[in-house]
Amino acid sequence: MSEEPLLSLRRFIEDIEKAGELRHVRGAHWDLEIGAIAELSYRARTPMALLFDDIQGYRSGQRVLTGSTGSAERLARTLRLGEGLDDAGVVEALRGKPSIWAAAAAQYPVRPVSSAPFHENVVEGDDVNLLDFPVPRWHAHDGGRFIGTGCLVVTSDPETGVHNGGCYRMQVQDDGKATTIAAVPGKHGAQNIERWFAREGRAPVTVSFGHDPLLLVLGGTEVPGGVSELAYAGAVLGESVPVVMGEETGLPIPAGAEIAAEGWLTPDNRRVEGPFGEWTGYYAGSPRPALNLTITKLFHRDDPVLLGAPPGKPPHDYSYMRTVMKSAMIEDALVSMGVPGIKGAWAHETGGGRLFIAVSIEQRYAGHSRQVGYLTAQAPTAAYMNRYVVVVDDDIDPSDLGEVVWAMSTRTDPAQDIEIMGKTWGSKLDPMLAPDAAPYNSRAVIDACRPWDRKDTFAKVAQSDPAYLRSVLEKWGTVLEG
Ligand SMILES: Cc1cc2nc3c(=O)[nH]c(=O)nc-3n(C[C@H](O)[C@H](O)[C@H](O)COP(=O)(O)O)c2cc1C
Repeated sequence: MSEEPLLSLRRFIEDIEKAGELRHVRGAHWDLEIGAIAELSYRARTPMALLFDDIQGYRSGQRVLTGSTGSAERLARTLRLGEGLDDAGVVEALRGKPSIWAAAAAQYPVRPVSSAPFHENVVEGDDVNLLDFPVPRWHAHDGGRFIGTGCLVVTSDPETGVHNGGCYRMQVQDDGKATTIAAVPGKHGAQNIERWFAREGRAPVTVSFGHDPLLLVLGGTEVPGGVSELAYAGAVLGESVPVVMGEETGLPIPAGAEIAAEGWLTPDNRRVEGPFGEWTGYYAGSPRPALNLTITKLFHRDDPVLLGAPPGKPPHDYSYMRTVMKSAMIEDALVSMGVPGIKGAWAHETGGGRLFIAVSIEQRYAGHSRQVGYLTAQAPTAAYMNRYVVVVDDDIDPSDLGEVVWAMSTRTDPAQDIEIMGKTWGSKLDPMLAPDAAPYNSRAVIDACRPWDRKDTFAKVAQSDPAYLRSVLEKWGTVLEG
């Protein structure tokens, strides 16, 4: 496969197959069965990537990949952090990298090329049909078939020309001729689209539906505004990403794309979309109108692979990567704001990597723990849909839910240590949001650090000294192990 372009999904599939991280599933149905098999796999002790082929109603070779980033090995390969890393190893290897990548992105602008494998098939006008691909209906109450889960939607800032790559759910519309894009207001992609509407009355868009999951990870994570996710991907790779510039939109399409589209959004072209089983674990919000992409050109490789990343009650397809990425980015953001004493951050998978964040600190001054809590809750990388931030001392592992809850239970006085922020950045996806209410939420900062003024006299933890425990284990280990 030496001729494969950078960020080819086929190359990734070949790699993870060699690493024993892939299973093949033949003969499943696109209607619910692929989604259910994938869901069973996420809940397994060692979740595998699944490559679905011979999908009922479709030609052999038209494939769907799920679970692409659901293990330490696959996520580490995706982020080019190395091979053979475990969960802790990935986190350790990632520490500090997001801010380095963001800073280096400007050195890796996209590299335009004239052709790509997706030119094998170019479809226009009435021949466009997204249902020529085995697009799954992922969950029973979904409002339709969602082609965009692991996708990368490329927009641009009309003033600066900087590209943005975001991952937003996309439901097939108009019998396959079009697809809605459900970017939430405030997301960089949504802001770009609004600016184009104000300036030109329409917004150009390109989309890739199958690529190396690095683009899913970066498109689906809060990369800082003004930084192109494609350039950021170049910084991760140490090499600019080859792209074909869309002839009509002038926007890039990654040369490694399996299926790609080019088209326009206009403010009045909307279709009802949803509901969709979401990362909170709920179907929240009623079906509502979303911008509908008029596809002017559709491209695909022979026997293309669609990259699927359906959310749902955690753990779901991308909850592991979201947790690892968010945790690293939040820690990085706090450090780069100049906050001292940050020991670790963890955006728990059970809160979809957004709702419940724990940060551990070495307390340095009165007010330090509250400062960390407030900043975390409003950091651009964490602000959307956060609900709880818990700040703990550095003897607590923020990724260990049991320890975090123990600290909350024993080091807080709820009357004093829970601070509430109101009218913060919520979402229509919030199952707590009243119908038709504006998508605000509130959030709690729980200061579960020992009170600063009693830090040195606070009750001692009833456990043995670790060095003593080690020596006891040496002496008594054989008895304990039976
Ligand atoms: C599989 C997947 C689906 C997502 N669906 C949506 C969506 O429908 N709408 C949305 O606004 N964000 C969605 N997100 C989250 C965004 O991708 C994420 O917030 C990203 O940082 C947005 O990028 P932007 O701020 O550059 O626009 C999804 C993420 C993933 C990984």
